[in-house]
Amino acid sequence: MSFFEEKLPEMDRYLETHASSEPEILRKLRRETYQKTTQPHMISGYQQGRLLTIISQMMQPKNILEIGTFTGYATLCLATGMAKDGKITTLDVNEDLAYLPKKYFAESEYASQIHFRLQDAKEFLRETDEFFDLVFIDADKENYAEYFRLIKPRTKSGSVVMFDNVLWYGKVLEENPKQKSTQVIKELNDLIAKDDDFENLILPLRDGLNFLRRK
Ligand SMILES: C[S@@+](CC[C@H](N)C(=O)[O-])C[C@H]1O[C@@H](n2cnc3c(N)ncnc32)[C@H](O)[C@@H]1O
Repeated sequence: MSFFEEKLPEMDRYLETHASSEPEILRKLRRETYQKTTQPHMISGYQQGRLLTIISQMMQPKNILEIGTFTGYATLCLATGMAKDGKITTLDVNEDLAYLPKKYFAESEYASQIHFRLQDAKEFLRETDEFFDLVFIDADKENYAEYFRLIKPRTKSGSVVMFDNVLWYGKVLEENPKQKSTQVIKELNDLIAKDDDFENLILPLRDGLNFLRRK
């Protein structure tokens, strides 16, 4: 049994052992994330990573955006499916940890297609004039509603946008939440549900993934 399998609860272990195996580079990256970072639970992890890979493989996107690189696990999962001439831009603000994703991106076969930027996501979204086929938003929950407003004009028909952690450990069921992040995630889910330009579904995978497709 591997390092991760030993630590997993029984059902997660079953799910993990009945899905395609994890590429070696991702296994190494996941392990190093657990060894070297103080908040390893932030990593997308195996199941979500598989989902991101499959979506990307089905879409073969030319232009991907990720908000919240952390150690680069989801970046590499998303990169797996991109078009041959595709690119992925991934943003983070944590300079101290940047050595880790940089190391794994350089080692990967997508090194020249991954654009890792240390930049605040709101600043990037206000400046960019690019359109994205596939977007994964996984950072800075208190700005989620603003990210939705900013990303919408940067999508086109068929674009897919995913927001992670939209169940917020079940706190979205609180009627009058005190926590700002809970208020904003509720606002985001409401905004998306009312937006006729997108169709969407909240997948109850891990902490909830709001999955949107622009009509
Ligand atoms: C949950 S982690 C991302 C996990 C990653 N997507 C993965 O799957 O492994 C969130 C990351 O967002 C970054 N972050 C926080 N605020 C940000 C901002 N304003 N702009 C860009 N990144 C930000 C944090 O430094 C952190 O590394």
